Amino acid sequence: METRKLNNGVEIPVVGLGTYKIGNTDKETYRAVRTALDAGYRHIDTATLYVNERPVGRAIRESGIAREEIFVTTKLWGSAILSNRIQEAFEGSLSNLGLDYVDLYLVHWPVKGKLAFTWQAMERIFDSGKTRSIGVSNHLVHHIDELLQEATIVPAVNQMELHPCLTQNDVVKYCSRKGIVPVAWSPLGRNNIALLEEETLVTIGKKHGKSPAQVILRWNVDKGIVVVPKSSDSQRQKENIEIFDFQLTTEEINQIDALNRDYRTGIHPDKISF
Ligand SMILES: NC(=O)c1ccc[n+]([C@@H]2O[C@H](COP(=O)([O-])OP(=O)(O)OC[C@H]3O[C@@H](n4cnc5c(N)ncnc54)[C@H](OP(=O)(O)O)[C@@H]3O)[C@@H](O)[C@H]2O)c1
Repeated sequence: METRKLNNGVEIPVVGLGTYKIGNTDKETYRAVRTALDAGYRHIDTATLYVNERPVGRAIRESGIAREEIFVTTKLWGSAILSNRIQEAFEGSLSNLGLDYVDLYLVHWPVKGKLAFTWQAMERIFDSGKTRSIGVSNHLVHHIDELLQEATIVPAVNQMELHPCLTQNDVVKYCSRKGIVPVAWSPLGRNNIALLEEETLVTIGKKHGKSPAQVILRWNVDKGIVVVPKSSDSQRQKENIEIFDFQLTTEEINQIDALNRDYRTGIHPDKISF
């Protein structure tokens, strides 16, 4: 598994397993994370919101893989920010996961008027040594600009909705300038836009003997973007990491870039409420 270096030297595997709604039960979630780890995944993305930190953590702990070989991300939900329980929320996540530390702790969504306050609490958590890095998610340029005004640590990543229909070029360019690694959530369009049937992706895939999903994931990785596709199915999990044996041409990358239509499957970051 290829990795990218974060701005603090920590290495993040460029493909991770998304776990939002990965199982209807804890048993299914546990199974899906175990099959992914068996297939070679070394990066698992969860969040307090997903209410699955317990089975995700148990799958990691029982995998037989050394803890330091697995990159674990979890996220802080906005209600904990509004009730001033950020530290408690972090401790709760660690306890749910049954881990001594995580590799990345993210502010899940920006909470208006609380950006600098939240980030200062995140910096204290980082200083405690219980997370190897801190970052943000769903932050637009103006959110990051605002939190940086009082920050001593630059976020390591910004995890955002990103796929060929929503390339977020402005945020990606800004992040790259600031040394923040972009991470794509719903990289496959969450299966609720017909992205995987898109002619351009099908044609490019055929040329390389790859699926449209693999083409999208490779396109991201080629652009320096980390991806966290979710699959509950062991075959599709394998498919989503078999992207390191082919390369897209510049022309193909440009063709995929041209599919952008600023289409969000999720909420706009300025419209979220908790
Ligand atoms: N930070 C945030 O606010 C935020 C928001 C949303 C999501 N996320 C993270 O991002 C992760 C991924 O996003 P997502 O789950 O919304 O969407 P996604 O990864 O874009 O798409 C998942 C869907 O694609 C299907 N799929 C996966 N691999 C496939 C393949 N090779 N071929 C065909 N279909 C395939 C899955 O079905 P099967 O499971 O049946 O394979 C599932 O229906 C989440 O799980 C979560 O960890 C973060």
